[in-house]
Amino acid sequence: MRNIAVLTSGGDAPGMNMAIRTIVRSGFHYGFNVYGVYNGYKGLVKGEIKQMTRETVSRILNRGGTILGSARYPQFLEEKYQKIAAKNLKEHDIDGLIVIGGDGTFRGALALHKFGIKCVGLPGTIDNDIPSTDYTIGFFTALNTAVEAIDRLRDTSFSHRRCSVVEVMGRNCGDLALYAGIAVGSEFIITPETGYDKKKTLDAVKGSYRRNKRHAVVVVTENMLDVNKLAKTIVEEVGYETRATVLGHVQRGGNPTAFDRVLATEMSEYAVELLSKDIGGKVVALRGMDIIDVGIEDALTMEKQVSNKRYGLVGKLVR
Ligand code: F6P
Repeated sequence: MRNIAVLTSGGDAPGMNMAIRTIVRSGFHYGFNVYGVYNGYKGLVKGEIKQMTRETVSRILNRGGTILGSARYPQFLEEKYQKIAAKNLKEHDIDGLIVIGGDGTFRGALALHKFGIKCVGLPGTIDNDIPSTDYTIGFFTALNTAVEAIDRLRDTSFSHRRCSVVEVMGRNCGDLALYAGIAVGSEFIITPETGYDKKKTLDAVKGSYRRNKRHAVVVVTENMLDVNKLAKTIVEEVGYETRATVLGHVQRGGNPTAFDRVLATEMSEYAVELLSKDIGGKVVALRGMDIIDVGIEDALTMEKQVSNKRYGLVGKLVR
């Protein structure tokens, strides 16, 4: 029997539990003992490692968050912690590790791989900011949450004849804003990829105001600008009564959509299969309809492809 482990790290994402469940069940199919590492790399350094059973992963597939817990742990960039982590895994005879998270998580996996642990990364983040994959586990659930929230804002905006400026998450990636903005028929979308153009933003809102629309929506990626200030500018320069809303961490919770559950299942099964063939140092990805693998180093350095076309079309998709 070989021993493998799974951990979740960085910001949690809906679908992580489905991935954990699949890794455990597939692991048993391939004849592995499967261990769970609690609280990400921080827990790994502290030795928070427990063997998992079918029972540990029952009734979790529809739950958001991660039953293993997660943590932000920038200290893991330091070699001394990586060595402790590798030692803790080796004490349990664990030589294969599946990590679920974003690019910070993959950097940790690359380090551990260099210490002789076969690591496979699964992209799990609501931001969809992993260049090697078309979509990450959790992105579509967070997107649906954002869309549902903006639909609600639209109801009240309509009643009061107001404009809504809505900030969504995404860190440095505009995908949540882009897709949500298209899905709700927003007036304007501001993302890191498209940049902030004050004149164009105000012109778009002005256009709707002049056409006597009872509501308008501007969707903005976090960290781009102060949404309250933008709301004030719209009031002052367009005359449209405006409110700003920061959606925040509600976007990270909730039951994963069917798509995220299926994606998590397919990617996890693929990851366990890689370990069964003694292959590590990879990140699993979705390209078109296919689940593929990419070297961790390549995954960390390549440029994002999938949304670029849509950013180019944004003028056509949001009129
Ligand atoms: O990476 C996921 C994410 O939700 C980002 O969208 C956001 O910038 C960040 O995590 C928030 O991090 P934290 O939960 O640590 O505040």
